[in-house]
Amino acid sequence: MKFIINGNKKIEGSIKNSGSKNSAVAIIPAVVLADNDVTLRNVPNIQDVKTLITILREIGYQVVFSDNVLKIKKRKKIRHHIQSDEVSKLRGSYYFMGAFLGKAKKITIKNCGGCNLGYRPINYHLDGFKKLGAKIKQYPHKIKITAKKLSGCEILLGFPSVGATINIMLACVKADGFTTIKNCAKEPEIIDVGNFLIAMGAKITGLGSDMIVVEGVKRLKGCDYTITSDRVEAGTYLILGAISNGAGITVKGCCPIYLSALIKLLKTVGCSVRVGPNEIFIKKEEALKPFHVTTAPYPDFPTDLGQMISVLATQIKGVSSIKETIFSNRFSHIGELQKMGANITIKDDTIFIQGESELKPAQLMAYDLRGAASLVLAAVLAPGTTHIENIEVLLRGYEKPVEKLSSLGLDIKLEK
Ligand code: EPU
Repeated sequence: MKFIINGNKKIEGSIKNSGSKNSAVAIIPAVVLADNDVTLRNVPNIQDVKTLITILREIGYQVVFSDNVLKIKKRKKIRHHIQSDEVSKLRGSYYFMGAFLGKAKKITIKNCGGCNLGYRPINYHLDGFKKLGAKIKQYPHKIKITAKKLSGCEILLGFPSVGATINIMLACVKADGFTTIKNCAKEPEIIDVGNFLIAMGAKITGLGSDMIVVEGVKRLKGCDYTITSDRVEAGTYLILGAISNGAGITVKGCCPIYLSALIKLLKTVGCSVRVGPNEIFIKKEEALKPFHVTTAPYPDFPTDLGQMISVLATQIKGVSSIKETIFSNRFSHIGELQKMGANITIKDDTIFIQGESELKPAQLMAYDLRGAASLVLAAVLAPGTTHIENIEVLLRGYEKPVEKLSSLGLDIKLEK
């Protein structure tokens, strides 16, 4: 599938922020922990969610998904042996490991997938499971995790990993006694998953700090839970507002506090930004200033928006730089931006962008989700027709991108 975009149009108006992908892909597998039915609201209608629904159905759940409401009903027999090829289509499928370990003390699952952002080991997840009492057998294409008993303990993460923090929370939520996760991730998605578990009856404190304490409970009930908004989607549309001509863009239904690092950057470079309780307005201004950003775990500048601000930098006179500290392969979009005329050099973990450049239309290839979003932003600026192939990677994580971008005035088509 590809996007065909005719750029250089006036872009303005407002869009509604969708539910968070990275919360949803953890909360959906976490439903396994519940003894009764679960209703999730504000679930983004994206490919990663559809893939997880397929897996849930394959292992024995009855699932209805309509108007962003996901109703998951338990059938009698749930299979903890997940053989589906769907598992390898996304990273979030690895949350079935923690959830099934916590619920049934056993799981066999194929290896998970996700964007190719470099080497993405899961050693912190597995070390945490082992400390809780699990035994792990790794095969070339699958992993088997079992435990006779899970006992609360202290787990110190070597890095505040989002995935490991969530997976260990899922695994220990029904363990005996207290589990303390130190140097854990503080991302809003951690808080969201924790709040979902609390809604089911879990006892968790410290969410959003670098130490989470979980007191194991005997059972978790079903619940009705609303997923938080997607800060990366909101950030994408704010960066669009920062680069495009028009009267400005308002992102409605977002959590501005989750976007503090981006808002600070956009104000510093010189954009007009107005923040309300649940919405943010942005407008491009003349003569923006170059910037230097280093990505880091929350609350610092998110790696997921690093690729997109590289497009902003192409529109700013002078040299800007972006240093990536989370993933080793976050610059796969740079070659594509260079095809459009961007002046960018890569040195180790940092890119240097010399602006300002007039981007020209080109035939592009998307390699990963956020890289694809960056190419869309670049195509918006190019006068003429840009084709972006392999746009499936973007559809994994953005809800209704064609409808939302068209409503803002962009000439965009999805060709299947
Ligand atoms: N790491 C390890 N060992 C581990 C776990 C992580 O060495 O056991 C390393 C990773 O290799 C990486 C760093 O720690 O270098 C951070 O990884 P983390 O576990 O925090 O990231 P993740 O859980 O794999 C999630 C999001 C990413 C987002 C990152 C960072 C999901 C499904 N994915 O990935 O989102 O970039 O946190 O915030 O939640 C995206 O949405 O496009 C995306 C890639």
